[in-house]
Amino acid sequence: MTSSPPLCRLDDIPDGGAIAVHVDSASGGFELIVLREGDRAVAYHNECPHAGRRLDYAPGRFLVRDGRIICAAHGATFRCADGLCVGGPCMGSSLAAVAVRVDGGEVRSR
Ligand code: FES
Repeated sequence: MTSSPPLCRLDDIPDGGAIAVHVDSASGGFELIVLREGDRAVAYHNECPHAGRRLDYAPGRFLVRDGRIICAAHGATFRCADGLCVGGPCMGSSLAAVAVRVDGGEVRSR
């Protein structure tokens, strides 16, 4: 079985924080937000459901606090655990999740 290359190392992500990871593809690739909580990681496309903007306030820098990530554009607030918007202009919508796993200290897509 061929496995895809790791997205990043778990240690690359501050515990309770997030980083941006670019994923190459035939169409030029896309960017993910990879969040860490202890030994676990979750990932979402770096595209806000409100107006399609990136969530980071500077490249790869995200506002993450108390288990929530805040879009820097207009303040939509999403639960890190499941990507649900719980406050702001797109309440009830969700970030697009990408299934990942942690294996040997590396974060990989499933
Ligand atoms: S684009 Fe994210 S809150 Fe508007």
